[in-house]
Amino acid sequence: MNIPTIRDIKDLKGKRVVLRLDFNVPMRNGKIVETMRIDRAIPTIEYLRKKQARIIILSHLGSDASMSLKPAARYLAKALNTDVGFVPDFRTPDARKIAERLPLGGIIVFENLRLDPRELENNITFAKYLASFGDVYVNDAFAVSHRVHASIVGITKYLPSYIGLLVSDEIKNLSLALHPIHPFLFILGGAKFDTKMPLLKKFMKTADTVFVGGILANDFFHDKGLEVGLSVVDTYQHKLTPLLKKGNIVLPLDVVTKSGDAVKKVTSKEVGEVLPNESIVDVGPETIKNLVPILKKTKLVVWNGPLGYYEGGFDKGTIALMNAIAKSKAVSIIGGGDTAVIVERLGIAKKITFVSTGGGATLEFLADGTLPGIEAIGNCKKGK
Ligand code: 3PG
Repeated sequence: MNIPTIRDIKDLKGKRVVLRLDFNVPMRNGKIVETMRIDRAIPTIEYLRKKQARIIILSHLGSDASMSLKPAARYLAKALNTDVGFVPDFRTPDARKIAERLPLGGIIVFENLRLDPRELENNITFAKYLASFGDVYVNDAFAVSHRVHASIVGITKYLPSYIGLLVSDEIKNLSLALHPIHPFLFILGGAKFDTKMPLLKKFMKTADTVFVGGILANDFFHDKGLEVGLSVVDTYQHKLTPLLKKGNIVLPLDVVTKSGDAVKKVTSKEVGEVLPNESIVDVGPETIKNLVPILKKTKLVVWNGPLGYYEGGFDKGTIALMNAIAKSKAVSIIGGGDTAVIVERLGIAKKITFVSTGGGATLEFLADGTLPGIEAIGNCKKGK
């Protein structure tokens, strides 16, 4: 499908652009903890400003309306070194007035869209209302494009619709995993086997090696009848051992375990020696050593999900593998909210070919090769 991008919009000067972004950034005590998603939206905003469009930014933050996008608007103003207006309630006549007064190249940010329950319902009246603020619609919110929401799908019925530069980049780079060069190493970590099973099955067919870490590996150990102690096992639904027959799945060789009151008692040990009162919290050093020669031959590596319980500080395995990837010559694509945040924290983003901004969206794109938000733009019938 041919998906039109903002570069296809004619005569942007003076046009009102309803720009859907994903400013769903991690927050603590009302402050932004990690700005990657906002930073990655900036090229599109700059492009539109340069063309003297009037920009109305829509986003959500969190799963409901409890957090405000005001800090995001403030951060954006600083990053762009310009004024950015903020509309605390987009449902009032004031919102219309502010949007109408926008100067050429001006920017406003509407408050968290989830303030209105109709957003999640993909309500048509609400989608039409959002559309009424613009002449064109641009979706540069890759990370939420797997949601059939009013500002992602519904709105494309009412305005000529395009994708932004970030969504375009995500499609281009994630598509490398769909038509891989070889040898191809696929790394799958994190949790939620139910959402990751389609990916595992798909990439088992196309990847030369699939390394499974994180909670997903515990599932394999458990299914093989190995002791996993108190480790989180995500699901008992899947028969995993038969998948090992194909021979291209690699599991951790050693793990880090924790027992009781944490850190002191953490030890590295061979898988199979886990005690009933321990939990597996990371992969061990042998596991990483085992992957390095594979990585040396690899031409393409795609990675989703951390290898350990990194929120609890068990991030050594993930960091060691990430550094090895950064040093390798392979084309590297890293996605999934948590994994991407670690890349940013390590400051190695420039050494990775592409870091996806999506969590669930990246998984869905890798599984299906498209997303509802992207399809909606491709199917948009409004005159362009
Ligand atoms: C994400 O962080 O994955 C996106 O912003 C989507 O958020 P949601 O899962 O609350 O729809």
